[in-house]
Amino acid sequence: MSKINKLISGNCGVICPDCTEDYVKAGGYQGLKKAFTMKPEDIIGEVKKAKLLGRGGAAYPAGSKWEQLLEIPEFPKYIVINADEGEPGTFKDKILLGQDPLRVIEGMIIAGYVFNSHDGYIYIRGEYRAIQKVFQSAIDNAVKAGYLGKNILGSGFEFNIHIMTGAGAYVCGENSALLNSIEGKAGRPRIKPPHLAEVGLFLLPTLVNNVESIANIPTIVLEGGDKYLSYGTKDSGGTKLICLSGNVVNRGVYEIPFGVSLRDAIYDPQLGGGIPNGKKLKFFHLGGQSGPIGGEAQLDTPYCYKALRNAGLSVGSGAIVVMDEDVCVIDYLKGVTEFFIHESCGKCTPCREGNKQIYAILCKIAAGEAVQDDLVILKRLIDTMTIASFCGLGQSAAVALNTCWKLFKTEFEDHLHKKCPAQVCFTEQERGE
Ligand SMILES: Cc1cc2nc3c(=O)[nH]c(=O)nc-3n(C[C@H](O)[C@H](O)[C@H](O)COP(=O)(O)O)c2cc1C
Ligand code: SF4
Repeated sequence: MSKINKLISGNCGVICPDCTEDYVKAGGYQGLKKAFTMKPEDIIGEVKKAKLLGRGGAAYPAGSKWEQLLEIPEFPKYIVINADEGEPGTFKDKILLGQDPLRVIEGMIIAGYVFNSHDGYIYIRGEYRAIQKVFQSAIDNAVKAGYLGKNILGSGFEFNIHIMTGAGAYVCGENSALLNSIEGKAGRPRIKPPHLAEVGLFLLPTLVNNVESIANIPTIVLEGGDKYLSYGTKDSGGTKLICLSGNVVNRGVYEIPFGVSLRDAIYDPQLGGGIPNGKKLKFFHLGGQSGPIGGEAQLDTPYCYKALRNAGLSVGSGAIVVMDEDVCVIDYLKGVTEFFIHESCGKCTPCREGNKQIYAILCKIAAGEAVQDDLVILKRLIDTMTIASFCGLGQSAAVALNTCWKLFKTEFEDHLHKKCPAQVCFTEQERGE
């Protein structure tokens, strides 16, 4: 099996990103043309067959999400694309937005057609300022060529796309906070239910999908759901853009078919190419700061939703941050927790206070000042935050810590005796050297 399959990233770096002619020459808009000959429910049927799971991190089945929205009789409906991409170690939507924006636009038009929606919003991370310009230019060129705006390709269907800009808050990537932000409100998560399909943008029915999810739609429509599914595994349809970073030779974004092993993702010369400077792998962090940490023993797990879940891991956003033997887990987790302290919106106590308490204990462990009871409190904080936080940010903030705890329990305990296996914490004197 080939370890790379450029199903949705084939145009990246090859065509002029905002140029309609280039996109059409590369096969662009064929999915849209086919969609216009199909009934909305048949398009959704293909998305269901494809087993496309949301690429934004939560892996919600796209077909079911689309079906639920179709059943809602209220209009207008809105299409919202989540391009906030705030998860550290994740930079794959950036590639699609900047190098093949017309594919994202085509996916949005198809979604608009399915739900008879006339307005789509794309919420692009504020730091992607240069990419926003490229995306706007792609929209303008699509309008000029008759693919956007009124009477698209003579079908009588009208669809417009509006770019909204994020302002640097990670929590605005949470779908309900994102809608509040578009509406000009504080970017804080909403209570659910009601679900966004019923009460979404401007309190109207709304579809929220990730950039990579929507970029798959033209291919699914054109090739059919069964064909798309066959590119991946039985349960994880198609391909995934993975982002390799950290202590790995070939950092970057790669499109792999689901089913390639984690070992191949990290070590294959076509992909990660292994750990630099002959060092050993210590752990890998999947799906961003909110995702789980795995080790050597899990390397042969196939990279697909089911197998990773069974191994206590997850795909999440597609980030794979690789860390070598010189990294101290406590030191690493301090960085993770600092991120969540910074990004917590402060709305609920378990997340706002819990992250600070966890950080304080990690600092004590790193300083060799912690005692066994601190580890007990740490475990209690992990459980409380996971169960009692209001939104996904707080609920997943301790996932890395919890998985590391299981993998590296002895390393936590070593620190209680002023021993840091990676020799990051404590001075030589403190270590007794
Ligand atoms: C704190 C937080 C941040 C998130 N950030 C993003 C993001 O940057 N991009 C994204 O697509 N989804 C993000 N999500 C997931 C979204 O809430 C939502 O599940 C996703 O946009 C739905 O699209 P999908 O079903 O196509 O994956 C985030 C969730 C949480 C809780
Ligand atoms: S868990 Fe609570 S404090 Fe944390 S980001 Fe969500 S709503 Fe805000």
